[in-house]
Amino acid sequence: MSEPSVKNKVVLLSGNSNLELSEKIASLLNIPLYKPVRRFADSEAMVQIPTNIRREHVIILQSTCPPNVDSNIIELFLMIDAAKRASAKEITVIIPYFGYARQDRKDKPRVPVSSAAIAKTIEFLGADRICTVDIHADQEQGFVSIPWDNLYGSFTLLPEIEDLDPKDLIVASPDKGGVLKATAYSSRLNAQGIAIVFKERDVNTENKSQALDMIGDVKGKNVLLVDDMIDTGGTLCNAADLLYARGAKSVIASATHGLFTRDALEKINKSAIEKVIVTDTVPLKEEVLKNPKIKVVTIAPLLSRAIEIMVNGGSISQELINWTD
Ligand code: R5P
Repeated sequence: MSEPSVKNKVVLLSGNSNLELSEKIASLLNIPLYKPVRRFADSEAMVQIPTNIRREHVIILQSTCPPNVDSNIIELFLMIDAAKRASAKEITVIIPYFGYARQDRKDKPRVPVSSAAIAKTIEFLGADRICTVDIHADQEQGFVSIPWDNLYGSFTLLPEIEDLDPKDLIVASPDKGGVLKATAYSSRLNAQGIAIVFKERDVNTENKSQALDMIGDVKGKNVLLVDDMIDTGGTLCNAADLLYARGAKSVIASATHGLFTRDALEKINKSAIEKVIVTDTVPLKEEVLKNPKIKVVTIAPLLSRAIEIMVNGGSISQELINWTD
């Protein structure tokens, strides 16, 4: 028996942050994609949903990603507000890349918990469910009372890594926060173990990080570095330098969110990292897509399947998260 489709069961809306991904998801689901956000002359967002949504399940797609993180957040807020005021029955917000997720605790005096502020506003405006991919810290789901499904980029990335058929493999985390992720990749890939790099980040010097030391033996091993995101590329390239300095035979890397800001590409090109695999949770510049070291694999099948499960019922964890990340 074929899986019931989501046709006539949902209305799919997308903000402007990552239209290419939204189009791919709509095409996999074989349903129309509505793009309700335009701009006034003064650049304010103007939202109007172009179809009736009364008593409909509305799914809103929007990555709150660079280069216009804050505008993308406002687009998201206004789409939720428009859907609520138009009497949608249920509003699911899918945020493939959730900006501000790294600001998840009060780690210094007089700072906001920015990701909580954003998540709570999403809930306040009337969303019924949030869905993200590799949120920076799983416990952010506790910032709101509505359900929050966090999917894992590993679902999409692992088959690409397995295709490389890496031998004598050690999985490395570029910081202590990624140890669980490295352990999970290691077990899934039958690797020989994990290594952990210790980094220090100085927010007073433009947030630059430094790889200080590591535990684990990588001598003569092929290393897979795993992280949730590549922003300026500092964490990744510093970790790779240290791994090579400790005798690694080769280093490849994978990350769910490829932001590649500032001089990230230059750093990656100069580094001895052999390959970097990322998904398309954020729109990727032409220079990233053309970079011979970088492989982009689309997250659209994961998100479209998650939508089918959310709409028709079923277990996201059983089908899309079959191991602990
Ligand atoms: C930090 O905790 C994250 O997991 C990433 O390692 C970090 O945000 C990457 O940033 P960058 O590429 O700028 O070093």
